[in-house]
Amino acid sequence: LREQSPVMRDPKSGLWMVFGYDDVQRTLSDWKAFSSERGRPRGENAQTALSSSIISTDPPRHRQLRSLVEQAFTPRQVRALEPRIAQLVDELLSPVQGAGRMDFIRDFAYPLPVIVIAEILGIPATDRDAFKRWSDAVVTGDPSGSREMGAYFARLIEQRRADPGDDLISGLIAAQLDGEHLDTQELLGFCILLLVAGNETTTNLLANTLLCWQDAPEAYDRVRADRTLLPGTIEESLRYRSPVQSMYRVAAQDVELGGQTIPEGSPVLAWIGSANRDPAQFPEPGTFDPARTPNRHLAFGNGVHFCLGAPLARLEASVALNAVLDRLPDLRVALDASLDAIPSQIVYGVKALPV
Ligand code: HEM
Repeated sequence: LREQSPVMRDPKSGLWMVFGYDDVQRTLSDWKAFSSERGRPRGENAQTALSSSIISTDPPRHRQLRSLVEQAFTPRQVRALEPRIAQLVDELLSPVQGAGRMDFIRDFAYPLPVIVIAEILGIPATDRDAFKRWSDAVVTGDPSGSREMGAYFARLIEQRRADPGDDLISGLIAAQLDGEHLDTQELLGFCILLLVAGNETTTNLLANTLLCWQDAPEAYDRVRADRTLLPGTIEESLRYRSPVQSMYRVAAQDVELGGQTIPEGSPVLAWIGSANRDPAQFPEPGTFDPARTPNRHLAFGNGVHFCLGAPLARLEASVALNAVLDRLPDLRVALDASLDAIPSQIVYGVKALPV
């Protein structure tokens, strides 16, 4: 498709699909032509609360809202979390070390990012178990889980209004834009976006990296012998098995792209996963090469919506995979494992990963 119809309208869904690197980059970053805001529903549940969050807002409102959370995610702020991340990695790996077999996702790649983001938000540890269910519900579009999650955060916001702490939620409640506080819908949007974004994506980055090593065992041997290859390994994993495969926009005007005219108001899906395998940008795109330079993958998006959590995801992956290489030598995906893909057009990964 990328070669033959790089921009096409899928007759079944009516969605315009964009596959090539340059066109995907433009679709993600040219917010005047491709809106993140148009046509998003508003309402009470978690799914619709997301439509009030920065990921579904265009400039200038987007810039204002994003500035409120940016402070919590600067590379410097994020670096300060390293000792705590290392401690969590240690706590999660200790019980499984020497156990012979584990589900890499259930026992490690899922709990790590969810605990980190829950601590940033200031969510009680005891409530974390429900998050997996809820964030899966948001990703797969299940309305009852989304409603539950919305109700949970609405209660938490009320609680923090009455009794603020030094967590991010309390900070957002206190914040003002042009003299006005965020409304409950906007606060809900932030909480749910951060939780879902912090949950599904980093989990899949970790698990997908193991699958990359399975595809390219020599790359695994090389990084074990030379840890300076780890940052390149993480970037290549993001390119080769992108945890977020596609992003949605709506054409805000008639747009010429790839020799086609996308009419104003059309829904558009930018295929990040395809862009990241475009041979025009990445020579031998089907080869997993941790030493690939340059590696300008679009796994974290591009432009004003570039992933806010990228420094955090990279740090978590670096601490986690370093510890895995140190403490679980000869880690292998179980031969009898049947790998079931997560049923989503957006999120790319497997449901369980026995190793
Ligand atoms: C935005 C991917 C981890 C928070 C994005 C976008 C992508 C992405 C592709 C762009 C969306 C768009 O253009 O519409 C990923 C991947 C991750 C990851 C692959 C892990 C490997 C995280 C983490 C957090 C996070 C850990 C939170 C702590 C966000 C937020 C946005 C975003 C808040 C919206 C930014 C905006 O609209 O201005 N992410 N993400 N992400 N991500 Fe991530």
